[in-house]
Amino acid sequence: MPEKKDNVYASPMTTVGAFRFDENVADVFKDMIERSVPGYGLVLQLIGLLAERYAQENTNVYDLGCSLGASTLQLRRHIPASCHAIAIDNSSAMAERCRSNMSRDHSAATCEILEQDIRETEFTNASVIVLNFTLQFIDDNERQALLNRMYEGLNDGGIILLAEKVRFEDEDKQTLMTDLHHDFKKLQGYSDLEIAQKRAAIENVLVPNTEDVHVARLKAAGFTTVMRCMHCLNFSAFLGIK
Ligand SMILES: C[S@@+](CC[C@H](N)C(=O)[O-])C[C@H]1O[C@@H](n2cnc3c(N)ncnc32)[C@H](O)[C@@H]1O
Repeated sequence: MPEKKDNVYASPMTTVGAFRFDENVADVFKDMIERSVPGYGLVLQLIGLLAERYAQENTNVYDLGCSLGASTLQLRRHIPASCHAIAIDNSSAMAERCRSNMSRDHSAATCEILEQDIRETEFTNASVIVLNFTLQFIDDNERQALLNRMYEGLNDGGIILLAEKVRFEDEDKQTLMTDLHHDFKKLQGYSDLEIAQKRAAIENVLVPNTEDVHVARLKAAGFTTVMRCMHCLNFSAFLGIK
């Protein structure tokens, strides 16, 4: 099936509703995230590399906020056959499409897709946990507790890969990075109207933290090694090793 182009915010709207991961978004999500997040493809490749190195035999690997399963596929293709991949999303539109995408993948490792709120997920016998642009949608004051539970569910030597949009404390830097991100989106073919309407829709839904906050949270959760492994404009990925 040809990929559908993201036109969700292309026409003028009288009121712009809050952004939701509904059917309309799920239908075009691959195009939307690829044209909106600089470095998205690179992070997917990193997930494969990290899975190859850190997935342990007979353990669970988690993809939290799996959307269509792009990260899940990277995990499945790079983990031992004895591993079990668990992909979770609380959007039924996403979980449904992820299930169908996974059914067409014939990697050896088993896989299950859960329609669930990750704040309720139990993490057990985990070696790799991926949060690829998902934590930013969780209530800010619930983020630390969630990371703590992930840390508890990881085996020694296990890892978390956390990718997020980030913000900057310094106002000038924040403005510059926001402008450059919008330039990036224009370069990908989005109009000024699309960029403005999407920005209005997502403003209070996606709440970014600074890089310092992410590093401090991962350390507070217990991770002894915490490193930034990707950074492009206002998007960063962090690796935490238990
Ligand atoms: C930006 S997308 C993630 C992209 C995906 N990880 C990838 O690699 O392509 C965020 C996803 O997180 C899901 N999500 C947001 N809050 C959630 C929650 N509390 N529990 C489960 N999933 C959640 C959304 O439905 C959405 O599919």
